[in-house]
Amino acid sequence: TNRTFTMIKPDATAKGNTGAILKMINEAGFRIVAMKMTHLSSAKAGEFYAVHKERPFYGELVEFMSRGPITAAILEKENAVEEFRKLIGATNPAQAAEGTIRKLYAASIGENAVHGSDSDENAQIEGDFFFSKLEQF
Ligand code: GTP
Ligand code: MG
Repeated sequence: TNRTFTMIKPDATAKGNTGAILKMINEAGFRIVAMKMTHLSSAKAGEFYAVHKERPFYGELVEFMSRGPITAAILEKENAVEEFRKLIGATNPAQAAEGTIRKLYAASIGENAVHGSDSDENAQIEGDFFFSKLEQF
C-alpha cells in the first residue's frame, strides 16, 4: 500500500463540493491519513507549484490557488498515485472520463477542482509541504 497527496481547490470549495468530493474519495477506497482546510497565500501557492514557474499559465494558477480555502490531504491506498489520478480524470475536464471527479466538478483546465500528485516522490514532497511528520501517521 502507499500514499498520494491531494488538494480540493478553491473553485470546488467555493461551490460547496468539498463533502461530495471527499465522499467519492472514501468510496473509491482511499484512507484519509491526514487532512486540513487552509488558505494558501500567493507566495505559498507559488512555492507549491514552482515546477510550473516557466509555464505561461503560472501567474493565473497561483492567483487561482490563493483565491480561497483549499482542503489538503494525504491519502493511502494500494498504488495510490495512479489510482487517484484515475479517480480525478484528465487535467482538462472536457477530456476527463465519465464518473471522474473533474468530469463531475471541474469547470475548465485552469479551475479543475482537485490536485493529485504525479509520482510517489512528489506525493512525499507535497505531503511534507502541508503536514509535519507527526501528522502523517
Ligand atoms: P494537478 O493535479 O493540479 O497537478 O494537475 P495535473 O497534474 O493534471 O496538471 P499539471 O500538473 O500539468 O498542471 C497543474 C495545474 O495547472 C492544473 O491542474 C491546472 O489547474 C493548471 N493548468 C494546467 N494547464 C493549464 C492551462 O493551460 N491554463 C490554466 N489556466 N491552467 C492550467
Ligand atoms: Mg500535476
